Amino acid sequence: MKTVGVIGAGQMGAGIAQVSAQAGYRVLLSDMDVARAEAGKAGIVKQLARAVEKEKIAQADMDAALANIECVGGTQAFAPCDLVIEAATERESVKRQIFESVGKVLGDTAILASNTSSIPITRLAQASPDPARFMGVHFFNPVPVMGLIELIRGLATSDATVAAVETFGQSLNKRIVHANDAPGFIVNRVLMPMLNEACFALGEGVATIPDIDAACQLGLNHPMGPFTLADFIGLDTCLEITRVLFEGTGDPKFRPAPLLVKYVEAGWYGRKTKRGFYDYNGAEPVPTR
Ligand code: 3HC
Repeated sequence: MKTVGVIGAGQMGAGIAQVSAQAGYRVLLSDMDVARAEAGKAGIVKQLARAVEKEKIAQADMDAALANIECVGGTQAFAPCDLVIEAATERESVKRQIFESVGKVLGDTAILASNTSSIPITRLAQASPDPARFMGVHFFNPVPVMGLIELIRGLATSDATVAAVETFGQSLNKRIVHANDAPGFIVNRVLMPMLNEACFALGEGVATIPDIDAACQLGLNHPMGPFTLADFIGLDTCLEITRVLFEGTGDPKFRPAPLLVKYVEAGWYGRKTKRGFYDYNGAEPVPTR
């Protein structure tokens, strides 16, 4: 595998492009237009420059990684790719459109993978040219820091596809875990009920936002408390995944906490809107309740 296409130059796509380029792959990074792809690459430049400053990598490594990344608009340029990873908006219609369009230019052996955090892989595969060469490859945010990739095979995914993507993931220095195509896969199946439960606890007046965060951070040795993490992921994303768990299993234990729904209805999505369980407009985050 030599050439990797990444569709979507947001936080996840840019992170995937960065680690792939650092591992020596030629990367084609695309978004709706070249300007958006270039904006994603500009973020990668910042990340790598910080790593050089901290003496984590040499200037020559940064230059080599950046030289590996070519920004493109749309999906026409993806013909030479051995693997294409879609990391676009978490909306099924958007992803299906992308698979249909990139499917027209991909070679006969190329693999198409989705970084979806919750949409069933078997269903998404239906929009790809060959479901045997389609699977889920779920990275975690921030991609350069997090050491895990979940691989999810759909009903029709071939063993050869899984083996090729596993080898690719290992070459990025990530631990690979395999999950079945079940709602939330592994990490979100376990994580989202915890974040959702923190919202129930807050709504029921068990404790304050800072105390629930401190309790989980210091009492469980987690890097972030549940509200800080939910704001980091995005409350809209947390709610969407929780709904997938609820609807996909039919189990009431996954029902979304009313307070989480309220925050999303208010447009308070977390860091990306500068307000979620904390307000990020000042120098320090301030709890919103
Ligand atoms: N991109 C790249 N590197 C980053 C980064 C980013 N966005 N944010 C932080 N880092 C790096 C820093 O440069 C630093 O690197 P160094 O150790 O080499 O100097 C290191 O991470 C630690 O950063 P900081 O000292 O600034 O801050 P923290 O120690 O608080 O770490 C954190 C920040 C790594 C984000 C840590 O708080 C953490 O691990 N939080 C939990 C993240 C998590 O759970 N992610 C998974 C979310 S679930 C998901 O993605 C699935 C999806 O489907 C919802």
